[in-house]
Amino acid sequence: MRVLNFFNHVGGAGKTSISYALGYEFARRGQRVLMVDLDPQASLTKALGLRVTASELSRTVHDTAVSRAPLPEPDHVHGLAVIPSHVNLTLAEGRMMGVPGVHMNLHSRLRELSEHYDLVLIDSPPSLGQLTILGALAADQLVVPLPCQDKGIEGLDGLAQAMELYHRVRPELTIALYVPTLYDRRVGHDQDTLTYLKEKLSPLATEIPLRSVWRDAWRARQPVGLFAPNSPVDQAVRHLADELTQAARLPEVARG
Ligand SMILES: Nc1ncnc2c1ncn2[C@@H]1O[C@H](COP(=O)(O)OP(=O)(O)OP(=O)(O)O)[C@@H](O)[C@H]1O
Ligand SMILES: [Mg+2]
Repeated sequence: MRVLNFFNHVGGAGKTSISYALGYEFARRGQRVLMVDLDPQASLTKALGLRVTASELSRTVHDTAVSRAPLPEPDHVHGLAVIPSHVNLTLAEGRMMGVPGVHMNLHSRLRELSEHYDLVLIDSPPSLGQLTILGALAADQLVVPLPCQDKGIEGLDGLAQAMELYHRVRPELTIALYVPTLYDRRVGHDQDTLTYLKEKLSPLATEIPLRSVWRDAWRARQPVGLFAPNSPVDQAVRHLADELTQAARLPEVARG
């Protein structure tokens, strides 16, 4: 089992879109995939068409985060196992603060599921708060989507600082792949940003172009690979899955 965290404290970087699309693609390839929504915005949960009510916080990672309770039974959508989120998951942030060792709770509980899943994909919130730490420390590797706009570059310092802190607890944590996203090749500024990212970062995936089908699939509550099979976006996702397999040295799983 491998645990990957889609990580960037910058908002609207493509974390949720890419983790969802890759989760679906790896499941289509026969891998047993668990998706964990760590973001109180619950974007991934909504994109999957799931709904959690305020009285169902135990369906989320809340209890694991605050008291190391076992992880809940996941939901199942589009061939993916899913631990969803809810806006009240934000309560966990306050409850985790000042509790020694609490940030490793998800790490240890996930490792108990290693016989059940090939891949765990964690969708992080756009912050550097408690839940983000919980998710980063739970991962074997991080995948960092970067929008090809100013904020993509501006976020790199914060990212380096966060990595430095996480390394004190998990020295083996690495960034498996940077993924340039939301790339509009008609815009000079996007071209400059991509050139900069290519110079500075490695390994860097092939850029994911800006395409409205991402939003259309979102609205349809479907992964892009299901909403627009064999489209250029689907092909880009498949290519990204190949690049990630290589960069993160993911084991190829021949199943189903
Ligand atoms: N390649 C793309 N082309 C066009 N739109 C995209 C693309 N990738 C993502 N989007 C859209 O951009 C928005 C932000 O993407 P997404 O929610 O995946 O980013 P995020 O990093 O998870 O955001 P947050 O930080 O709020 O969690 C969404 O509306 C999504 O549908
Ligand atoms: Mg998101």
